[in-house]
Parts: sequence; C-alpha cells; structure tokens
Amino acid sequence: MELKGKTAVVTGSSSGIGFELCGLLTDKGTSVYGLSRRRTPLEHPGFTWLETDVTSQEETDRAFDTVLNKHEQVDLLVNNAGFGLFDSIETIDPEAWNRLIATNLTAPFLCTRRVVPGMKAIRRGTIVNVASIAGKRGFRNGSAYCASKFGLNGFSEALVEELREEGIRVCTINPGSTGTAFFEHAGIEAKKLMKTEDVARVILSMIELPDDMLPDQVVVRPL
Ligand SMILES: NC(=O)c1ccc[n+]([C@@H]2O[C@H](COP(=O)([O-])OP(=O)(O)OC[C@H]3O[C@@H](n4cnc5c(N)ncnc54)[C@H](OP(=O)(O)O)[C@@H]3O)[C@@H](O)[C@H]2O)c1
Repeated sequence: MELKGKTAVVTGSSSGIGFELCGLLTDKGTSVYGLSRRRTPLEHPGFTWLETDVTSQEETDRAFDTVLNKHEQVDLLVNNAGFGLFDSIETIDPEAWNRLIATNLTAPFLCTRRVVPGMKAIRRGTIVNVASIAGKRGFRNGSAYCASKFGLNGFSEALVEELREEGIRVCTINPGSTGTAFFEHAGIEAKKLMKTEDVARVILSMIELPDDMLPDQVVVRPL
C-alpha cells in the first residue's frame, strides 16, 4: 500500500508500538488519527490526536465521525490499543476481565465496522490487528489475556475470508515480548525484549507490501 496522501487511524497511539507507528506513518505523508485516553505527544502536522476510550462505543463512533467528516474513507486501520492482565483463575476480577475483553477484542470490532463500508466502496484498504504470541499459545496465568488475543486472531481470520474478495486486506501481527510499558502495567517481567520501534517497523513493512499481497499472519519474537 502506498501511504502518501492516505488516511490512517491507529488505536493506542499514546505510547509503545502505536506511538512509534504513528511517527513512522506521518513520516510517509499519511494523515494519521491516533485514538487513546492519554494525550499522544506527537507533534507533526499530519497527526491528530482524538481523545477516545475505545471501550466506549459512543466515544469510538464520535472519533470515526470526526475522521469520516474530513476524509471519504479510512485507508488504514491499526487496532493496536490493548493491555495485559496476568493472574490466576481464582483471583481474576470479573470487572478486569470485562475491561480486558472490551479493550483487546470488542474495540477492534467497534473500529473495524466503521472503516469497512468506505473501504468496500473503493475496493481497497488495510486493517492490521495487533494480537500477540499469547493469541497463538497459552501462558500460565494468562487465561484472560490469551482468551482476548486468541479471540482477536479468530476475528481476524474470519474477516480475511469475508473481506479479501472486496479488495480489503486484514493482517494480524503476533508480537512476542516488546520493550513498552506493557509489562510494567501488567506487573510481570520478560526475559528478552524486542525494541518497540523494530516491531512498529515490521507493521509498517506489512502495510507497505503491494495491495495484491496479503500478509495475513506475521509472528515476530525476540531471538
Ligand atoms: N509489549 C509487548 O510485549 C506486547 C506483546 C504482544 C502484543 N502486544 C500488544 O501490543 C499492543 C500495544 O501495546 P504496547 O506494548 O505498545 O503497550 P503500551 O505502551 O502500554 O500501549 C498501550 C496503548 O493502548 C492504549 N489503550 C489501552 N486501553 C485503551 C482504551 N480503553 N482506549 C484507548 N486506548 C487504550 C494506551 O493508551 P491510553 O492508556 O492513553 O488510553 C496505549 O496507547 C497491545 O494490544 C498489546 O496487547 C504487546
């Protein structure tokens, strides 16, 4: 996908992988809208931060209304917002479980449904879902997080079949441990970490593949 002059929405833009990716996309001449609750500290004429809690359908719809009032369609959506929750099955708080599923799984649904009509109209578009290695195999104390990311992988695989004939690419990246605030928030440690900007670069390279190539599943992990 040629990025110059295109419109992109990236969820979870305020830090980590999403923040790095927003910088890479604006450098390519893309109009980028970042959705997050905290301010996204990216100063670039091509970047707009839209304060959004993606677990709220009302807030998410408001953000997409803002983008779609200015642009005919969203050419690229990156469903990146997410967090980790690692706890034993007896101690996972049901409210935290619901918040996790709302962020990691329902939000990609809420965002994707807003971009597909415009992409269908021009028979072109790319949707990238940021899942995880934990969406491919189970981890101890990861029942909630793994369920959310396995769910996201299932959502993506089904959408590949639904949308490829419409010219829309649905791509999933499953990263391993990456040096963002993720582990701090989740209260766990990783042995080896990939650099945040390297993971963002992998996502960029998936997006930049020719429109007739579909990198539907990419797994990347520390060596
Ligand atoms: N780091 C890793 O090792 C790793 C590995 C595999 C997959 N991942 C996935 O990569 C994605 C990005 O995480 P990261 O590692 O870059 O961690 P991060 O630095 O903590 O970034 C998470 C982003 O998600 C946003 N977010 C969380 N809840 C949100 C909500 N309700 N509404 C809007 N935005 C929300 C945060 O913004 P606000 O707090 O400002 O809202 C932040 O911008 C996540 O989906 C994560 O599961 C990470």
